Amino acid sequence: MPSLKSTQAYLERHHGGDGELAAKRTLESHQRNHDEAFQAFWDQHISLTNDADCHLVDLGCGPGLFLQDLHQRYPNAQLSGVECAPYMLDRISDLPDAISIHVADLNLDSLDLFPANSVDVALANRLVHELHQPVSLFRNLQHWLKPGGVFVLVDMVRQPLKSYVTHELKGMDLNDLKLNDARLEDLFIHFLEHNRYHVDDLVDLLTLCNFKVLAVEPIRSGRAVQIAVQK
Ligand SMILES: C[S@@+](CC[C@H](N)C(=O)[O-])C[C@H]1O[C@@H](n2cnc3c(N)ncnc32)[C@H](O)[C@@H]1O
Repeated sequence: MPSLKSTQAYLERHHGGDGELAAKRTLESHQRNHDEAFQAFWDQHISLTNDADCHLVDLGCGPGLFLQDLHQRYPNAQLSGVECAPYMLDRISDLPDAISIHVADLNLDSLDLFPANSVDVALANRLVHELHQPVSLFRNLQHWLKPGGVFVLVDMVRQPLKSYVTHELKGMDLNDLKLNDARLEDLFIHFLEHNRYHVDDLVDLLTLCNFKVLAVEPIRSGRAVQIAVQK
């Protein structure tokens, strides 16, 4: 049975054993992970006016930069971030009153985190592959989202080993001895952890959890996907 503590330990290892560095990298890759393709997908499937009085949730919000972006765009919105890695939480700073952060483990049933039928839009940007299983989260979302509320899921999806290794090694030769046993082990562990789901697996799980699929868009040459579903 997972607990907040065991999830934090798992995440620290998954994030490379150096939480501070992982948080720094997440901050640095913010623009890339919320790029034009993401913005266009959001605009296409989130039909909120900028002055909407609504509740938006960023699941696995990391250092909270997207919440700040949302606050700029939707100044009247109530904004909630959910995060459990201490080194990510440490990097969240200077939040306006509209943003609140909830420390919770999204592997667990957390129906009480938000009132039933209270959330207009929830986002999970590269969270789901870090969960032990996503069904508890999808069930929680069925509880939290308003009828007609939208869940946007962005994540890496299954790809052949050659494509994964080529991308991760950025041109480095597998025979290069700088790629020592420790780095090779890390590469193969992360191949499994980043390749958990085929696009169809995510769509099937969401459908089995009673979501209506609005859109499925492969991104990053098929190495990732953006999915929008509705309660
Ligand atoms: C790859 S990072 C992405 C962060 C942010 N969404 C972004 O796009 O920049 C995934 C985030 O989800 C958080 N996370 C992973 N598993 C979690 C869990 N079980 N409960 C809460 N947060 C979790 C991680 O700590 C990390 O901050």
